[in-house]
Amino acid sequence: MTTSSAAATFTALQVMQDAPVIPVIVLHDVAHAVPMARALVAGGIRMLEVTLRTPQALACMEAIAKEVPDAVVGAGTVRSPADAAAAAKAGARFAVSPGYTSTVGQACRDHGLSLLPGVASGSEIMMAQEDGYTELKFFPAMQAGGPAMLKAWSGPFFDVRFCPTGGVTATNAHDFLSLPNVACVGGSWLVPADALAQGDWARIVALAREATQLPR
Ligand code: 3PG
Repeated sequence: MTTSSAAATFTALQVMQDAPVIPVIVLHDVAHAVPMARALVAGGIRMLEVTLRTPQALACMEAIAKEVPDAVVGAGTVRSPADAAAAAKAGARFAVSPGYTSTVGQACRDHGLSLLPGVASGSEIMMAQEDGYTELKFFPAMQAGGPAMLKAWSGPFFDVRFCPTGGVTATNAHDFLSLPNVACVGGSWLVPADALAQGDWARIVALAREATQLPR
């Protein structure tokens, strides 16, 4: 990654190529946001997907954007134009969606957010490609066919790069990362709920560091 200024924008491909894993983060307490982000950055992971699944998510993004300049905060679980607008206002610089609609894509473009649209079928890939997306999240990856599905897609969708997410773990990440059409994986294992609850930031540093060592 060559860009490091806080104001920089990142393409979806840059977001995917920064590290082997994008952490999928669920935060219930704003007080956890900054130390957690610092721990991930200390372990070598700076593209952080904070999911819009809790009432605290937007405030957490804001805190990270303001106080952890080496992190690049993104919004996960973006399901509507309103989600995209709120995420951009909170300081998110990229978005990840569990599925894809053209209106969500347009809202992300309007707000300057690069988007990793979620797909689970050939038709969904084609819809996202029609709107110009070539970097896609495969979700839910394990449940929807795992590495075998990505191998099958590599024929007709030879020009698409994927970030499989959903059921990916430290143990099976390599099965995905070794595929030529996989740029990175997403997963929640880097930020375990019990580590957050206990304030065990050292564990999150260690999990991040291990993730950066995954070959791809
Ligand atoms: C999600 O959106 O919940 C992600 O896919 C994370 O899934 P995981 O908890 O299986 O990593």
